[in-house]
This record gives sequence, C-alpha cells and structure tokens, in this order.
Amino acid sequence: MEQAEDPAVDAQEFRRVLGSFATGVVIVSALDVDTPHCMTANAFVSVSLDPPLVLVSVDRRSRMHEILPRAGAYGVSILARDQEPLSRHFGGRPQEDLEVAFTWRDGLPLIEGAIAHLTCRLVDIHPAGDHTLYIGRVRHLSSSGHQPPLLFHAGRYKMLEVQPLDFDFWW
Ligand SMILES: Cc1cc2nc3c(=O)[nH]c(=O)nc-3n(C[C@H](O)[C@H](O)[C@H](O)COP(=O)(O)O)c2cc1C
Repeated sequence: MEQAEDPAVDAQEFRRVLGSFATGVVIVSALDVDTPHCMTANAFVSVSLDPPLVLVSVDRRSRMHEILPRAGAYGVSILARDQEPLSRHFGGRPQEDLEVAFTWRDGLPLIEGAIAHLTCRLVDIHPAGDHTLYIGRVRHLSSSGHQPPLLFHAGRYKMLEVQPLDFDFWW
C-alpha cells in the first residue's frame, strides 16, 4: 500500500488539520466475556443505508481492538452535551468515582442518557494503518428527542450553538 514516492506527513500536522473536522462523540461498548468495556470514539461513520452499516476506527493499541472481534457485536451511544465526563472517563482518563449507568439492548450495554443508541453485529474488519475499521450492521436504532450533542473540534469539547444555515435536508 505504501509507495516510495509517498511524501512523509508530519503526525502533529496531521492531527491539527484533521482536528478541524468537527465531530460528535460516541461511546463504543462491547462485552468482554460478560463485563462491559467502553471506549470513547469520534472516528465513527455512517457507511451505508442498504444494508444499514456503520464503522468505527479503533487504535490497534487499545483494549477495545482485541475485545471487538471476540465479542462479534458492539453498541454505540451518541453522547449528549452534559456527558463530557463520560467521554473523558472512557477516553483514557478514568475517574474512580464516576458512576456509569447502562441500559441494555440485544445483550449489549449502552450508556444511559445518551441522545441515541445503536446496536450492531460486527460484519467486516479492515486493517487500516495503525487502526482497524470495524464495520457493523445496525440491528437496533433509537434516539431520544432533541437533546443537544457533545461536539469535538480542534482537540476540545464544544457545544452546538444553534444557528441554522439552511432548511433541513437529507440526502
Ligand atoms: C474525544 C475522543 C475521541 C477519541 N476517538 C477515538 C477513536 O475514534 N478511535 C480510537 O481508537 N480511540 C479514540 N480515542 C481514544 C480512546 O478513547 C482511548 O485510547 C481509550 O483509552 C481506549 O480505551 P481501551 O484501551 O480501554 O479500549 C478518543 C478519545 C477521545 C477523548
């Protein structure tokens, strides 16, 4: 895949430039045998409508990387604005006294109070550099009204200030 003429890209510059792409924040969850394991992610993408597919890109160094293929299924909880502590907790800064409430669906733990929940069956695995793309077929979807989402942009948590630029559109 790598070719001799590919120019070197500075890692810090890569992070800085890609960080200008604003995203939401999700918690990916799976069962490690019978214990819930959760990981914060923003490399979460809607992939296909028919069949309904999503993907999450997972760092090869993470525990989630080895848990997901064994588990064969994962949950996705799209975080609400007030759930930033959970994002930090499952994003590498665990906080001992943080209480995490789960709600269960299709045998998967999902984060209570999230603005949307998905459960997925793992259908495809694509190694991609230092990450792996885990493609899931959506089994269950739900969202809870119109709570504001937690955003991540330029390495910081942000919130949405609603200033619609256009009418609603779906492609
Ligand atoms: C806002 C945010 C977004 C993140 N996005 C991702 C991601 O998309 N993929 C990933 O592998 N790690 C991502 N991380 C880092 C993981 O959450 C972190 O490495 C975590 O500790 C891995 O957990 P584990 O090793 O227990 O599975 C993100 C962290 C934060 C705070």
